[in-house]
Amino acid sequence: MQTLTVGLAERSYPIHIGTGLLGRPDLLMPCLPHKRAAVVTNTTVAPLYLEQLSGVLRAGGVEALPVILPDGEQYKNAETLGLIYDALLRSRCERNTPLIALGGGVIGDMTGYAAATYLRGVPFIQVPTTLLSQVDSSVGGKTGINHPLGKNMIGAFYQPQVVLADIATLNTLPDNELRAGIAEVIKYGLIRDLPFFGWLEQNMEKLLARDTEALQYAIARSCRNKAEVVGADERESGERALLNLGHTFGHAIENGMGYGMWLHGEAVAAGMVMAADLSQRLGWIDAPDAARARRLFERAGLPVVAPALGTEKYLQLMGLDKKVVGGRIRFVLLKAIGHAVVTEAPQDLLRQTLEACVANA
Ligand code: NAD
Ligand code: GLY
Repeated sequence: MQTLTVGLAERSYPIHIGTGLLGRPDLLMPCLPHKRAAVVTNTTVAPLYLEQLSGVLRAGGVEALPVILPDGEQYKNAETLGLIYDALLRSRCERNTPLIALGGGVIGDMTGYAAATYLRGVPFIQVPTTLLSQVDSSVGGKTGINHPLGKNMIGAFYQPQVVLADIATLNTLPDNELRAGIAEVIKYGLIRDLPFFGWLEQNMEKLLARDTEALQYAIARSCRNKAEVVGADERESGERALLNLGHTFGHAIENGMGYGMWLHGEAVAAGMVMAADLSQRLGWIDAPDAARARRLFERAGLPVVAPALGTEKYLQLMGLDKKVVGGRIRFVLLKAIGHAVVTEAPQDLLRQTLEACVANA
């Protein structure tokens, strides 16, 4: 097992990464002094891992209240959030009752937001079970829900007390979900870690084959990158925005197609290819580097062409991005592989990218 730390002074917390961690009560018990916890999960993950986690909690004398939500990005909304509050209130959960998120990024984001807001804040624990949530969403305290008009538009920064990433849970993950997680792994290489990008080029087949050592390395290196960024800029006043490479385009795809039609990681992969294209049009990276980025997404089996929503629709959806300032869209683009910046982009080049990277209708 490896343990990393997200350094946020009195709100610092450990990220434990390893195989079989769901069976390690010692890692959770320090956060459960009051012998009661609500485990929020969904209809897919509950049959796989809820009993294992509840059993470990029971063995430690902790009563686990299960809250089982419908599964899917289309349920990451205010109505489903209400189901969590209903269950907590019905069971008379108090301020000292932690919420444990057991699942992928959808469960983690919603549970975190419920924890931030229920009784004005209760303790929160992340047990991520997808690659995407282990390398990205469980770390850093961004929580929230979607709005019909925009992705992740309602939320709060609220840090967990511990993150427990059990690599064994990835054995049951469907292939397309594994690939979606790899998109966010490649992101770290592109924005700030050129040697890691090179490692991914060497080891992509191992990751796709779920080689445990390769997964452990990729998860830990991704989490180290994320912890460094979050430790330096928790509330995204600067550097943290770089973690949104490809997301301005990707969120437009997710919303424009209808939440759940494209996986988040798939949309972000196509979005990162668009960001590389726009960076090339700005003269920042050359054609071989743009092709190098695109090739790695292709090798991971991720989409590199965006769906045909129409240029005007893309522009309208991107106008609702959280990085918009004074009505102007800002993008994360590449100065080089391993070096990203936040910037505005000329409309004519943006339109060229939208035309070049979007499928024909
Ligand atoms: P997800 O939560 O929808 O999980 C993907 C699918 O895998 C779901 O059907 C889920 O039930 C299933 N699943 C989960 N664990 C499983 C397992 N071990 N075995 C089998 N099936 C399993 O999707 P995701 O990719 O984990 O997360 C995407 C979400 O995360 C998006 O809503 C995105 O906005 C959010 N996100 C948040 C942050 C952040 O910083 N908070 C960062 C990146 C992404
Ligand atoms: N996934 C983007 C962030 O955590 O800031």
